[in-house]
Amino acid sequence: MMLQTPLCALLGIQYPIIQAPIVPYTSPELIAAVANAGGLGSIGTVFRSFEDLKNDVARTRELTNQPFAINHTMRTFNEEAFVFTLNAKPAIISMALGDPGDFVKRAHDEGILFMHQVHSVQQALQAAERGVDVIIAQGSEAGGYGEYISTLTLVPQVVDAIHPIPVVAAGGIVDGRGLAAVLMLGAQGINMGTRFVASAESAMRPEGKQMIMHARSEDAVKANFIDDLFPPAPGLYPVVPRVLRTPFVEEWNRQPSQIKQKVEAVRLEVSTALQNKKFDELLPMAGQGCGMIRDILPAREIVNRIVKEAEETLKKKLGSF
Ligand SMILES: Cc1cc2nc3c(=O)[nH]c(=O)nc-3n(C[C@H](O)[C@H](O)[C@H](O)COP(=O)(O)O)c2cc1C
Repeated sequence: MMLQTPLCALLGIQYPIIQAPIVPYTSPELIAAVANAGGLGSIGTVFRSFEDLKNDVARTRELTNQPFAINHTMRTFNEEAFVFTLNAKPAIISMALGDPGDFVKRAHDEGILFMHQVHSVQQALQAAERGVDVIIAQGSEAGGYGEYISTLTLVPQVVDAIHPIPVVAAGGIVDGRGLAAVLMLGAQGINMGTRFVASAESAMRPEGKQMIMHARSEDAVKANFIDDLFPPAPGLYPVVPRVLRTPFVEEWNRQPSQIKQKVEAVRLEVSTALQNKKFDELLPMAGQGCGMIRDILPAREIVNRIVKEAEETLKKKLGSF
């Protein structure tokens, strides 16, 4: 039995496993390792300079001839980078955090598939109306920006609402049991962030990876002050990032109203940490799945283990109680 779904044929991949765009920790080595293991890697564009993005795409193509995605988000959208992506012609463009609008048509005009991440049924219906090819239903367990409906309740509702568009599940999935479970909910694949942050090839510092390895699920909290620090453009999805507790997160979650008075200084603190590759000291984005991650593995091994475990789980479950 091969662990394949129609999504695999659509994307030209062997296994229905997507490495989410874990900005600022994606690296060409990570994307290529996932792609060469049979999954789909995603290049993140947020926080990347135009030059870095060009280098990432070129380097990824040196390391793999397999398909990969390039991701954009509406929260810090960059038109110049989007035009670059259209010209780079990845197999698929993924987008998140707002109405995909006519970006879908712009991708399709270049022969590129479009995958959109949503957090509610309403957002899924809107994305379907825009003509997207794949929808990621991201539950509230997820690391990074998200909303408040759990993966277990969101995925089947989105599957039903937008049938026959393929749905990929995201949020709290770190192993083969998680993949098997969401296949049962009607999803055709998984989009994993936190598990791949804790991989050998991710660009997170070893100290940050250690934090994930030792975190409990309850340490992955919502950073409720973010909109006061970085106000979103009007009309975007009402998302709040999930991050691991740090002194920075605890301080501002305790007194979110105070941040407005120090906005410039705190923004400088965040951008300096980002530049110094110490973003994880302040805002280590990670999901509740951290409670199940106890090792840092090469991305290829993560993919291989998930495939094996999902296949075994699906084969054995009935009759094993
Ligand atoms: C560190 C980190 C950075 C992320 N950055 C992005 C991003 O730039 N664009 C995006 O669409 N999703 C981003 N996400 C969300 C992922 O796409 C994905 O939905 C999420 O990680 C899935 O949940 P999980 O972390 O429980 O696997 C990020 C997630 C993490 C953990």
